[in-house]
Amino acid sequence: MGPATSPQGGPLTRRGFVLRLLAGVGGVLAAALVVPAAGFAAGPAIAGRLRWPFLGGSVPPTPRATGWRAIGPVGDFELGVPKLVPVTLPVKVEGAVEPTQVAVYVVEQDQADAVILDIHCTHMGCPVAWSDGAKRYLCPCHGGAFTATGDPVAGPPPRPMDRYQTQVTDQQVWMGPLIEPA
Ligand code: FES
Repeated sequence: MGPATSPQGGPLTRRGFVLRLLAGVGGVLAAALVVPAAGFAAGPAIAGRLRWPFLGGSVPPTPRATGWRAIGPVGDFELGVPKLVPVTLPVKVEGAVEPTQVAVYVVEQDQADAVILDIHCTHMGCPVAWSDGAKRYLCPCHGGAFTATGDPVAGPPPRPMDRYQTQVTDQQVWMGPLIEPA
């Protein structure tokens, strides 16, 4: 089988692959919801291409980003109900930093507390989607499921969804750096 190619027909570099993986909330979730079979096939390939260090059981979330950013006023969120929020982060891939749109789930706990979750499954990195009916984040790749606050409850995910540091001040939800998995 030949190397992967970009939409323009050229070789798909690792950097391009990562940016494509992260780009576009709609595209990410469409992939998660519409093509589970493709996601199943792509999971191991994605892990292999990025050389994530926890192959075989657990992968880290998106490339690391630092700093704090306002996510929205607390009134934008419903208590206990995950909301998908697009966030533009400076993502460093192979030495270059580019503003890249990613998605997070924000779950308001109360007027002074919230949880912000990376959307990638901790099994092999597929994007999960919140199901109002199941009251779970569902992973299309291998049947993983998580509670609203990211605890694994079904399937192979070995640990909770990854969280960003969070603060609620002056009625505003703030998102900080990722919390490194234990
Ligand atoms: Fe395997 Fe989510 S990637 S269950």
